[in-house]
Amino acid sequence: MAPIDTSKTPIVWVLGGPGSGKGTQCEKIIAKYGFTHLSTGDLLRAEVKSGSERAKCLTTIMERGDLVPNDIVLDLLREAIVAAAADAKGFLIDGYPREKSQGIAFEKAIAPVTVIIYFEASPETLTQRLLGRAASSGRADDNADTIKLRLKTFLDNNDMVLAQYPDKLKRINAEDSVENIFGQVQQILDPLVAK
Ligand code: AP5
Ligand code: MG
Repeated sequence: MAPIDTSKTPIVWVLGGPGSGKGTQCEKIIAKYGFTHLSTGDLLRAEVKSGSERAKCLTTIMERGDLVPNDIVLDLLREAIVAAAADAKGFLIDGYPREKSQGIAFEKAIAPVTVIIYFEASPETLTQRLLGRAASSGRADDNADTIKLRLKTFLDNNDMVLAQYPDKLKRINAEDSVENIFGQVQQILDPLVAK
């Protein structure tokens, strides 16, 4: 693929536990900045719907709250980035990396990350939000058992992921209102687009 000039097209990793508000904040970022949003969870759910060969093992893994093999996730991401690269103003990579090796593989295969936004919330808050969403989301992984497993997978990996990028990491308290959180997000993103 042609290299991405990240001085013109920033790459933002949007991280946080299950239910931390990654998708909610990405919608607001898209509305203000016009960035291209790629959620690995959404890409995987679309792949499952498509019924493709590589989707066959995905449902079971996601219902266990486990991580899908990185070659599948990275292929999906790379395909989506290539498809959007010509017109993209910036990329929001939502839910990736989820383990140390994923970050390394992304930067090697695609481009260096510009900034990492991490939405921090307690396991209790995350669980409450996901249980609240479960009635309407239609997601097979929004049930009490899978939510516990998703949280465990997140907690097992998160510190190691974040520790790799001390200089690029921006932590945001995600226990606040959606609007206040977006206020903090803008303080991080405004300087990137003003360049
Ligand atoms: P994914 O789809 O990414 O799920 P997740 O990380 O568990 O997070 P969610 O999408 O459920 O939550 P969110 O942070 O987007 O929060 P939202 O804005 O929706 O991944 C699903 C699965 O795919 C994984 O478990 C794994 O199996 C696989 N996968 C994905 N990426 C992978 C990778 N890189 N490698 C391997 N496998 C991968 O908000 C949640 C709720 O809270 C909503 O109801 C919302 O309205 C509410 N809310 C949001 N903000 C606030 C607020 N400030 N105050 C109150 N309520 C709020
Ligand atoms: Mg999401």
